[in-house]
Amino acid sequence: MSRFSEPQHPVFRQLNASIGFDWRLGPYDVSLSRAHAAMLAQQGIIGTEDGEALQRALDLVEQELQDGTFPFEPDDEDVHMAIERRVIELAGPVGGKLHTARSRNDQVATDMALFTRAHAQAAADAIRTLMRALIEVAERHLDWPMPGYTHLQRAQPVYLSHHLLAYVWMLARDLERFAAVEAATARLPLGAGALAGVNFDTDRRRVARELGFGGVAENSIDAVSNRDFVLDYLAAAATCGTHLSRLGAEIVLWSSSEFGFAEVSDAWASGSSIMPQKKTPDAAELLRAKAPRIAGHLVALHGVMHALPLTYNKDMQEDKEHLFDAVDTLELCLAAATGMIEGIAFDRERLAAAASDEFPAATDVADLLVRRGMPFRESHGVIAGLVKRAVDSGRTLSQLTREELAEHSALLDDEYYTVLNGTTWLESKDSEGGTSQRRVREQLERARALL
Ligand code: ARG
Repeated sequence: MSRFSEPQHPVFRQLNASIGFDWRLGPYDVSLSRAHAAMLAQQGIIGTEDGEALQRALDLVEQELQDGTFPFEPDDEDVHMAIERRVIELAGPVGGKLHTARSRNDQVATDMALFTRAHAQAAADAIRTLMRALIEVAERHLDWPMPGYTHLQRAQPVYLSHHLLAYVWMLARDLERFAAVEAATARLPLGAGALAGVNFDTDRRRVARELGFGGVAENSIDAVSNRDFVLDYLAAAATCGTHLSRLGAEIVLWSSSEFGFAEVSDAWASGSSIMPQKKTPDAAELLRAKAPRIAGHLVALHGVMHALPLTYNKDMQEDKEHLFDAVDTLELCLAAATGMIEGIAFDRERLAAAASDEFPAATDVADLLVRRGMPFRESHGVIAGLVKRAVDSGRTLSQLTREELAEHSALLDDEYYTVLNGTTWLESKDSEGGTSQRRVREQLERARALL
């Protein structure tokens, strides 16, 4: 029997059904159902034999899902109903006992928490793999000078290792964010029923233990309304994607003939359909472009959840495609970034030539005056005057004469030329976290300790 006298409109079915994407929750839904059925039997809510029959049917369902032989049907609205239907087909009427003391509302929240937790762990694993790759490349380029940039203008020379390690620390913060996502999935929604709790003497803690939750959600209303953990995953993924996009953007720049700093391996590059000479770092460009897609999913789900009255609303079904696409995009990008970094080749000479530009040493010359007692703000002005003089006359800073220096400051002597000589710029940046080799070695050790 049904309370409806008219079949659903086909367009409504199409709008309403989530089976087209939530089939991915299948394995989690089976684990949940196993734990739930075991608890029902344990508590005497269903008979032991009924419990065993349910477990046998769920074993078969799991097998069918694994082999790809699960018979999805056009009438299946979502994965929860499809699995329950199949359990009834396989076990007979006793299969109808599976849905005792649960609702799709606490069920879907639990499946989503399990899925989110598993993929927060997968993201963390993939991030660690990328960090390892970056650390290895940094180690191999410990003392390769390159220009450091601000505003994409050459600013101060740094070691390539130092620059690459910057990404390791960004990713280390991503790891912390994904650990927080995992923590946000730690409380079991199941047992909340539709919203108010259930009429049976269930043991939620037992189900929580079995499914790897640290405890149970304290409030049944909150339990079925909560999708914070999905927002948390999307926020962590958006930030991580943004980090990868900056790496991608730099690889694109470095691979251009204008920079000529790096070349990605052939396995990570494309040719052109018309220009035979071209080799383009498409993977790096896509890392650049995928990030806003993940951020878009975060914004979209905030749009779904904001102002939504408690508790479950069908709106919340929209959480899935945003999460699934973000998961797929992030995991793909992390794997691509790792492969690209493992195969990248740097050009020592080009990097060094770009880093030996004298103007980046202007700050060091300003510091020389500071060591002689001049306030930094004043020395900054003196050196700016020298830079202008050099630029206006088409010379480098070291081509200015002693007489010209004297016109700008009495404190300038031959030491000025020594500072500009270059070799000491990088090693003088020996403050904690700086680019000197000693400090980069320290960093490398700390970074390795993270893994
Ligand atoms: N397919 C639904 C979703 O993804 C499952 C929950 C349905 N609950 C309900 N009361 N209609 O959100």
